[in-house]
Amino acid sequence: MRVLVTGGAGYIGSVVTRELLAAGHEAVVLDSLVTGHRESVPVGVALVEADTRDGASVRRCLRDHRVEAVVHMAAISQVGTSVTQPREYYDNNVRGGLSLFDAMLDEGVGRVVFSSTAAVYGEPERVPIEESAATRPTSPYGDTKLFLETALQRYGAAYGLRAACLRYFNAAGAHPEAGEDHRPETHLVPLVLQAALGTGRPITIFGTDYPTADGTAVRDYLHVVDLARAHVRALDATAERSCTYNLGSGTGFSVRQVVQAACRVTGRDIPVIEGPRRAGDPAVLVASSSRIRAELGWVPRHDDIEAILDSAWAWTQRHPRGY
Ligand code: NAD
Ligand code: UFG
Repeated sequence: MRVLVTGGAGYIGSVVTRELLAAGHEAVVLDSLVTGHRESVPVGVALVEADTRDGASVRRCLRDHRVEAVVHMAAISQVGTSVTQPREYYDNNVRGGLSLFDAMLDEGVGRVVFSSTAAVYGEPERVPIEESAATRPTSPYGDTKLFLETALQRYGAAYGLRAACLRYFNAAGAHPEAGEDHRPETHLVPLVLQAALGTGRPITIFGTDYPTADGTAVRDYLHVVDLARAHVRALDATAERSCTYNLGSGTGFSVRQVVQAACRVTGRDIPVIEGPRRAGDPAVLVASSSRIRAELGWVPRHDDIEAILDSAWAWTQRHPRGY
């Protein structure tokens, strides 16, 4: 199919674009480059530099490239920043998403895979989290994703738009050609590796008083290539129906465990400072991914934290200053 990847110049989008090509699809990227990098788009893939809120440009892109389906990944996505700058988040993510979905309806594009997030669950009652769990976001970022999931359900019922909503847990690791480069970087894995490389600052552990075994927050880290492959399967599923899936490895690691694993993988000491909790952060987020495994046959290939860190470390060493 001819697939438009919004946010395809970003960390996950650049890997999804590569996996779509590897599966035999054609791809075009639409990205405002607000956090993405031109250099991350594979050679031969068109980059349309535009904002999803610019409906005219999105419609032109859908028409010019005869797009048949969309993977919608364009968003700003820092939980902490969304708490202090909610206005920016609702505008970029909600207005951008609605503008894109409306352009799709106008141009007769009826299938979308949407990047949602574990942040829609907020503080979960039970772990691992199943898709049927209550959705009560604790951050504006989570609100924006839940709102768009709901809009997609309504658009499905009213207009027949078919959507696969993928609730990612923590994407980490690198593709051999594409890795993580956010400026400023806020994600734990790249920060830990920059600290190991000596180009970053010591790691501040955000909160050591969580109700977890070692007092630090627990997350489910999923290799970005496994995450990207799930999009190819989800896109196929939208030929028939709409669906919602968690995407995680099913195993949780605490902040301290990630730092210790990074010390083993890199063979270096990683300096650590203990700090207060970061606003909007739940204590534990671990996925049950049994639904997507059972229904789409998706199985993550890299399911341990050291393999994930190893791929990210290889990329970080080749790109010490990012793209
Ligand atoms: P990223 O910042 O690297 O990529 C996002 C891309 O979207 C960037 O290239 C940015 O320039 C582009 N973009 C943002 N707003 C735009 C707009 N209005 N119009 C056009 N382009 C725009 O982030 P990422 O980590 O690759 O995340 C990709 C998606 O996955 C996001 O939707 C994010 O919310 C979601 N997600 C990420 C994680 C994670 O662990 N990284 C977890 C859950 C969900
Ligand atoms: N952390 C630190 N120190 C740091 C950075 C992070 O202790 O310098 C901690 C955080 O508090 C959190 C864990 O490491 O407990 C992971 O933090 P990240 O910033 O790497 O990732 P988040 O869990 O905040 O968020 C990511 C994505 C969101 C997504 C979420 C789903 O950025 O889009 O995973 O689990 F919603």
